[in-house]
Amino acid sequence: MCGIIGCTGRDDAVDVVLEGLATLEYRGYDSAGMAIVSGTQAAPELRVVKRAGKLASLRHAVEGQSLPGRSGIGHTRWATHGAPTDRNSHPHVSGDGSLAVVHNGIIENHEALRAELQAAGVELASETDTELVAHLVAAERDILSAGDGAAPTTDGSRLAEALRRAVRRLEGQYALAVLDVGEPETIVAARYGAPLILGHDDGVSWLASDIAGLIAHTRDVEVLLDRQLAVLTPGGIAVSDLDGQESEGVRYKVDWDVDAAEKQGYPHFMLKEIYEQPQALTDTLLGRLGEDGTLALDEQRFADGELRRIDKVYVVACGTSYHAGMVGRYAIEHWARLGVEVEIASEFRYRDPILNPHTLVIAISQSGETTDTIAAAAHARDQRAPVLAVTNVVGSTLARQADGVLHTRAGPEIGVAATKTFLTQVVAADVLALFLAQERRTLLPEEIADAFARLEALGPLLEQVLAHDERIAELAHRLAGADYFMFIARHAGLPIALEGALKLKEISYLHAEGFPAGEMKHGPIALIDDGGPVIAIATRSHVRSKLLSNLAEVRARGAVVVALATEGDPEIAAAADHVIALPDVHELLAPILAVVPLQLLAYHVAVALDRDVDQPRNLAKTVTVE
Ligand code: G6P
Repeated sequence: MCGIIGCTGRDDAVDVVLEGLATLEYRGYDSAGMAIVSGTQAAPELRVVKRAGKLASLRHAVEGQSLPGRSGIGHTRWATHGAPTDRNSHPHVSGDGSLAVVHNGIIENHEALRAELQAAGVELASETDTELVAHLVAAERDILSAGDGAAPTTDGSRLAEALRRAVRRLEGQYALAVLDVGEPETIVAARYGAPLILGHDDGVSWLASDIAGLIAHTRDVEVLLDRQLAVLTPGGIAVSDLDGQESEGVRYKVDWDVDAAEKQGYPHFMLKEIYEQPQALTDTLLGRLGEDGTLALDEQRFADGELRRIDKVYVVACGTSYHAGMVGRYAIEHWARLGVEVEIASEFRYRDPILNPHTLVIAISQSGETTDTIAAAAHARDQRAPVLAVTNVVGSTLARQADGVLHTRAGPEIGVAATKTFLTQVVAADVLALFLAQERRTLLPEEIADAFARLEALGPLLEQVLAHDERIAELAHRLAGADYFMFIARHAGLPIALEGALKLKEISYLHAEGFPAGEMKHGPIALIDDGGPVIAIATRSHVRSKLLSNLAEVRARGAVVVALATEGDPEIAAAADHVIALPDVHELLAPILAVVPLQLLAYHVAVALDRDVDQPRNLAKTVTVE
């Protein structure tokens, strides 16, 4: 949800910023812009170029312009305040054009600030909340320049002190980067509630909203924490708190390299990421079961015996991660014998759920930065409920705030529609279920080892499922003309039906919905007309025979039935128009295989309709606003 980038110390800052924006474009693509300090050393000038639309429009605008400069900031936008126009694109500048700001987040007290600035005679050039920050920082800078007797700060930057004063006035979330002609080789950044990563190497300093923006330059990164500021110069990075005292972010070494964020010959990131799933599953399980046969979390800050005393579990998440939580519920209930509620984070955080130290809240988020999920976890912690995070990003806000963390190891996911992060979340949820079963002694060690081995065995089976790709592509071309798709399932297949529908609507813009098959007769069956596709997850399970009846009901009303069935199931084959056969696995693990054909179906339908698969309209990968 908006990506910001900054670089100081490179003669080709404009290219570095453009390249950085390309890696962050999946965070938002309503508009893109950059500011570079250009001109001469004696007379530096701030040059701003920004365009509505995708990064290509900005590239086009920059081409042919001479923009020499050693420091620059850039932004790729997912619009919140103000339509996606040139005017509302970032960076936003102060009235005299000497200072530029890029921002990810939302300033919630923007109306009061806008009124105050307008009353003071400031003319606003956009409808955004971000522009207000530019004016506030510039005003503080001017007060400091005029000399107000303030003590010098540890970082020695006037701009930093101006930003420090300005952010004290802000309510809401922000990751901000500021460039000022007065300090031409300095970028000042601040964060509260939106991610910001810093890197420095050999006379160059960078900042970015996430690792993807930095990985081409350095793997040694520092995560800026809430209420911290960073002053970036070619010589290094100084982190301080809001009082100006020296501070430090969280430093770590990124364990994936730049190739992981390239398409490597695939036409789209999404397809590449679908094909990476067997490896991602293997990586997520690697080394989890110790030689002594026990499972461990990646990070564990629970008090002794805390997990053993848990008597209730809530899973909170958004979007695709919510569906992963739904799959996890079946495993936790079955293996760990704990009652589980799965909740949309944006709803949970505003309810008044009964939470106490015996309630475990599992927060699932691939990015670890989704505002609603972080807030839901904080809501739980406020009521002394322990929080366990499942995330793909080491050092993310959610991971840092949780009492325990289980990392998915999917590697970077660039396609906006989540695929391999979903599959690894489901795997992690299963591992978590076994871990809780171990802590609560609801399974014997050999039962845990057996279930874990079944999970490991899914890697090669996923390869078999991927081999259906060509057939699914043919089917997708045949079905792409339909204007409404239904996905039906029961039990652990249900979240996969919901996820299949979500994937399809996200990237093809077709209407798709998932339903519990047993609910069809209570309403949704009225939607069926001749030739409408119904996709059913009908693999072997204790509810398969019930589903068989539901297939007959929809087919009798003219639906074209596509069934995901267990290999060698003649009854399902007879009840469907098209069958995709999946290897026979334990019914709780079947969702891990069943989601793959649905991802491929959504992908090929979107390709057939010539949609923008990796960057579907109106969406963003990481949602850092409410
Ligand atoms: C956005 C993304 C989805 C994702 C959801 C939750 O909507 O487009 O793919 O499932 O956010 O993101 P999280 O990072 O918390 O898993």
